Amino acid sequence: MYSLQSTAILNTGTAMPLLGLGVYQIPSGQPTIQAVLWALEAGYRHIDTASFYGNEADVGVAIRSSGIPRSEIFVTTKLWPTDYFRAEAACRSSLRKLGFDYLDLYLLHWASPIGKRQAWAALERLYRAGTCRAIGVSNFTTTQIDALSKSSSVVPAVNQVEFSPFRFQKALLDGCQTKGIQLEAYSPLTRGKRLFDPRITAIAESYGKSNAQVLIRWSLQHGLVVIPKSSSQKRIVENANVFDFVLSDADMANLDALDENYRALFK
Ligand SMILES: NC(=O)c1ccc[n+]([C@@H]2O[C@H](COP(=O)([O-])OP(=O)(O)OC[C@H]3O[C@@H](n4cnc5c(N)ncnc54)[C@H](OP(=O)(O)O)[C@@H]3O)[C@@H](O)[C@H]2O)c1
Repeated sequence: MYSLQSTAILNTGTAMPLLGLGVYQIPSGQPTIQAVLWALEAGYRHIDTASFYGNEADVGVAIRSSGIPRSEIFVTTKLWPTDYFRAEAACRSSLRKLGFDYLDLYLLHWASPIGKRQAWAALERLYRAGTCRAIGVSNFTTTQIDALSKSSSVVPAVNQVEFSPFRFQKALLDGCQTKGIQLEAYSPLTRGKRLFDPRITAIAESYGKSNAQVLIRWSLQHGLVVIPKSSSQKRIVENANVFDFVLSDADMANLDALDENYRALFK
């Protein structure tokens, strides 16, 4: 975990940059194009989008206009549950919008009650065909991952879940690590809702870092891949400046203790 270029090696052998830019709720068009370009300029090589976000095409435009080879940028997109019975067509649609011929990572967006087994079988075919370099899940519990594994042969490479000190999913982290599944933190900044909790501010001040940098660093030190979202150039740069300090064991424990099973996504 030394720099913005540091990667996690997935169970597929694929290298996934530890820090990425999330683009949920960045409006499509120029705002997304600009945010992705700022991130690439700052050294990010990992972008997280989804068909549901409505901005895959803008991510593709930004990557092409950056001049950086496609092969040097890790791009995730996600399959929305209403597409679980037509996953291959939905994947082709995402690829068309992005303007790519492969995805680095394709995720089942939610563990919806129906269709996820069929959708996973389709993702396995896309993985075997090389269309998706890695496939994974999002918002899955270990029980749901175990259920999926019973009818499949490919272990998800990644599980993307809400993860912050206020939602420290330790059992899920341990379970995924045991299965060789990379846990990935979404809403790592609590969508801003708990970011300025005075207990975070006290720790941040002691390192001369910002609250956001402390939360991102906490997830990284727990071994997660982290995808903070920002549409501001200043904050995109700030969020990547997390490789020049180390949270002490005591501060990691203090942050762990903030867990209250908080759900920023639905607040
Ligand atoms: N798989 C899923 O179901 C799922 C669900 C939610 C999110 N995600 C992914 O995870 C990504 C990140 O999660 P998120 O967007 O929910 O929330 P987040 O990254 O926790 O927080 C984003 C919010 O924090 C603000 N912010 C960013 N950097 C900041 C900084 N340095 N200082 C102060 N405020 C800052 C942003 O405002 P500005 O833009 O104004 O900077 C925005 O309001 C998403 O974009 C998406 O790619 C996935």
